[in-house]
Amino acid sequence: MMYRALLLITVFIASIASCKKDEEKEPYTPTPLKITRPAGFPEMVIPADNPTTVEGVALGRKLFYETLLSANNTMSCGSCHNQSLAFSDNGTRFSTGIDGVQGTRNAQAIINLGWNRFYFWDGRAATLEIQALEPIENPIEMHNTWANAISKLKSAKTYKDDFYKAFGTEEFTKEHAAKALAQFMRTMISYNSRLDKRLRSEINLTASELNGLSIFISEKGDCFHCHNIDAGRLLTDNQFHNNGLDSIFTDLGLAEVTGNPSDIGKFLTPTLRNIALTAPYMHDGRFQTLEEVVEHYNTGGKASATVDPLMKHVGTGLSLTNQEKIDLVAFLRTFTDETFITNPDFSNPF
Ligand code: HEC
Ligand code: HEC
Repeated sequence: MMYRALLLITVFIASIASCKKDEEKEPYTPTPLKITRPAGFPEMVIPADNPTTVEGVALGRKLFYETLLSANNTMSCGSCHNQSLAFSDNGTRFSTGIDGVQGTRNAQAIINLGWNRFYFWDGRAATLEIQALEPIENPIEMHNTWANAISKLKSAKTYKDDFYKAFGTEEFTKEHAAKALAQFMRTMISYNSRLDKRLRSEINLTASELNGLSIFISEKGDCFHCHNIDAGRLLTDNQFHNNGLDSIFTDLGLAEVTGNPSDIGKFLTPTLRNIALTAPYMHDGRFQTLEEVVEHYNTGGKASATVDPLMKHVGTGLSLTNQEKIDLVAFLRTFTDETFITNPDFSNPF
């Protein structure tokens, strides 16, 4: 009897306590975050169903560095996307996943992706929200299931709060996690390189860098057609091109997605921002240095059925002098943005 009474009282107290907890729960009032558009940049298109909020970005940052997302709790997005190297993978040609298995493509840097319209080297994801779903279940990356990842997050107490604050629900799903990751990645904006400062007339470039600039933006080097400076300063045209790396293709690039033979060997033009930090280069990381990249373009590249018409010097080459090659590399190095790689907002919060 005594025992039953005690039990009843306990249940009663517990239910008051839980009522109290519900009343005390703060209402869901996420704080809108306006992503500031740096001077000269285009408008960023943000999906209507995933507006940026302070709480969403904070959650996305935690998830980006959360090893619980991988099957054996050892790997996070940040393992392969390292801030000090502009979120590229530690100088490795191919990333190694949790099972020690390597992929066949070089990890892309994560820079100014809010302006992109395609993601991955072959453009197979149309939004950052779709992109962010992939690494968790990719067998050569985090090799987990989303169901498992979400259930691990739900048992880590703080995430119920974090998701509630960001999305108004404790019953969160992989779609909420992907939305938070996408919000965080949209804030990862680089706009403070020496090139930017020059474009804002804050500094001058050296004579060598200026000569590199003129090669880059003239017919002499022809780089600007695909790595645009003027049209938004993104240093990419967001299009797919075959820039003459091969004449026989093992990785079909865009054609892996479209199945269209005229897309064979075409890859998404990468931004050149922070390029001095993101070696090795190209979709398969075949070049170790910027000098090797410039030499590739200088020789004109290899002919094939799909080589881009903008690669006008295939077979003949650009015929740059040694000094011009040095100047072009010096110019590429002006894209490095120290503020971006040291910004505490993008760092590991744990
Ligand atoms: C094992 C290493 C590894 C891990 C872990 C990893 N990535 Fe990646 N990431 C890559 C590689 C490799 C690519 C290029 C893949 C391709 O193009 O097929 C890539 C591409 C991307 C891109 C596309 C960039 C662009 O320019 O289109 C984004 C964004 C990205 N990763 C974000 C993430 C996020 C978010 C996570 C965590 C949920 C993550 N990555 C985890 C290796 C990794
Ligand atoms: C026809 C368009 C086009 C032109 C012209 C062009 N590029 Fe590229 N660039 C690309 C594409 C596409 C890639 C990625 C190719 C791949 O990995 O298969 C790339 C890759 C690069 C990379 C490696 C980026 C990375 O993240 O790995 C560098 C550096 C580069 N280009 C610099 C230059 C320079 C310098 C010039 C001028 C001499 C130039 N590009 C001209 C389209 C172009």
